[in-house]
Amino acid sequence: MRAMRIRQPGGLDRLYLGSATPPAPGPGEIRVRLRAAAVNFRDGLVAKGVFPAADGLIPLSDGAGEVVEVGPGAGFAPGDAVVSVFHTAWADGHIERGQLTASPGGGADGFACDFVTRPAGHFTHAPRGLTHGQAATLTCAGVTAWRALADGHVLPGARVLVQGTGGVSLFALQFAKAAGAVVIATSSSAEKLARLRALGADHVINYREEPKWGQAVLDLTGGLGVDHIVEVGGPNTLAQSLQAARTGAHIAIIGAVAGFTNDTMPFALVQAKRLRLQGVTVGSRKDQLDMVRAIEANGIEPVIDRVFPLEALAEALRYQDSGQHFGKIGIEI
Ligand SMILES: NC(=O)c1ccc[n+]([C@@H]2O[C@H](COP(=O)([O-])OP(=O)(O)OC[C@H]3O[C@@H](n4cnc5c(N)ncnc54)[C@H](OP(=O)(O)O)[C@@H]3O)[C@@H](O)[C@H]2O)c1
Repeated sequence: MRAMRIRQPGGLDRLYLGSATPPAPGPGEIRVRLRAAAVNFRDGLVAKGVFPAADGLIPLSDGAGEVVEVGPGAGFAPGDAVVSVFHTAWADGHIERGQLTASPGGGADGFACDFVTRPAGHFTHAPRGLTHGQAATLTCAGVTAWRALADGHVLPGARVLVQGTGGVSLFALQFAKAAGAVVIATSSSAEKLARLRALGADHVINYREEPKWGQAVLDLTGGLGVDHIVEVGGPNTLAQSLQAARTGAHIAIIGAVAGFTNDTMPFALVQAKRLRLQGVTVGSRKDQLDMVRAIEANGIEPVIDRVFPLEALAEALRYQDSGQHFGKIGIEI
């Protein structure tokens, strides 16, 4: 049975096709035939050796497929469509940072393989109506976007800003629209801005043409600013986000796709606007269950840009590095 693995020290050219033979499921376990995975920024860092990983680690946090065998008391049935959970130790509620280390594709084997046998709690049912390929995109980017909006308690009519057209931002756009919010989205090209509009964005801004887009957001909102910001740009976009924020706004601090060169905090704006900056580390299994319910209730379909075969994982990660994609990059297994 196939399994992509990472030879240490890492590097995209050090991914290789090996094998894995998972055991029969014991009590509380399920065996899953994986049909799809998806790549995330973190998977690239793990594969390149930027994040430490065991020699021979099977990468990828996101996997979906069907249950083929169940152990006693597992709570799933053969044939169930399932999707992996990012933080296998985080069922619900509060958890300490130090307890989140063994997540699949990082501290433990992930899903770039044909079969796994895992505790049933490492999966949830996939949303009804989605393909395995669509479901596989939810584990990291979907739950992160869900948690960002849930932490902010986004209500109908709220103004939400999303940045760029990566996986997290497009899920945030879709969830925010489902919640009845007004969405302002930024991107780097006219073509991507048009696609954002087609996906439901109410207003779009080209951040290349308008590097001071914080003021553009204020102009679009009658000088008030937005109630919620899904901050994936990082230190290099935060100053514009603080400008764009309404007094009392919630800012979900998630990623750094725009780099780390300008890591300063406009302290005065945070204080004067009484802003609430909240870090996000994906979410719990309960967050994933809530997100699955919302996807089913609203008929949300993940946006997939391209799909690569399992053996072409390095190519998929290079494509992700190019930043050309709109939404998720999938892996067919
Ligand atoms: N904290 C967490 O729990 C968590 C979870 C998941 C992801 N993350 C992090 O969140 C970030 C986004 O993840 P992702 O999976 O959505 O990444 P992604 O799919 O790789 O996003 C890439 C996109 O970012 C956009 N981008 C690049 N520079 C930008 C800039 N200056 N301003 C605005 N957008 C810019 C580009 O879109 P355009 O061409 O449209 O501008 C690009 O296509 C990453 O840093 C990731 O590591 C964190």
